[in-house]
Amino acid sequence: MSPTPREPAYWQAVYEEGNPGWDKGEPAPPLARVLGQVEPGLAVLVPGCGFGHEALLLARQGYRVTAVDFAPAAIAGLRERAGTLPLTALERDLFSLGEEFSGVFDLVVEHTCFCAIPMAMRDEYARVMAGVLGEGGQFLGLFYETDHQPGPPFKTTREDIERHFSPLFEILHLSRPLDSFAGREDKEWLALMRKRTP
Ligand SMILES: C[S@@+](CC[C@H](N)C(=O)[O-])C[C@H]1O[C@@H](n2cnc3c(N)ncnc32)[C@H](O)[C@@H]1O
Repeated sequence: MSPTPREPAYWQAVYEEGNPGWDKGEPAPPLARVLGQVEPGLAVLVPGCGFGHEALLLARQGYRVTAVDFAPAAIAGLRERAGTLPLTALERDLFSLGEEFSGVFDLVVEHTCFCAIPMAMRDEYARVMAGVLGEGGQFLGLFYETDHQPGPPFKTTREDIERHFSPLFEILHLSRPLDSFAGREDKEWLALMRKRTP
């Protein structure tokens, strides 16, 4: 049986085919713009990091970065690109981060990770992300909008983002960025959210 998107082997096969379609070889401009304005030194998690272009940018800017992906080729690619940059690259299922990393991060930065998560797992994804953030921690996401069926990428709309995150996060900002990669104009949502106080 072929692996499902819930399994690393599914994503590993895409990396092994070469040129994963989502990878633009550099950080997404809307994220790079916002991250340039945030205080360096924060502890940041990058879930579903892929080759880690955002994680590398964050590490260069002085953030303490933990980047996670369960596809071995993604983490190998990130380590190769990182060289001597201080950054923790973990080959790991993000759904397993809860206990070990409870409350340790100031910020989560995701790029096209939510649309890789099967729809039935999305509330759990939001729960794990809230769990790894400390009090008042923030979540910065660049979400790829799609009505693709059956996926991945799995269907993602503004309403999906609001529905799954708003029980645990206060949505501070949610808009269409004006500086998307060419070809992704009008297909992205940039969101900044703050973990709610229990
Ligand atoms: C669409 S790719 C995006 C990669 C990267 N964020 C980027 O924008 O270039 C989704 C990534 O999420 C990873 N992923 C999916 N489910 C995961 C899980 N449960 N735990 C860790 N990584 C996961 C995949 O291996 C893949 O590298």
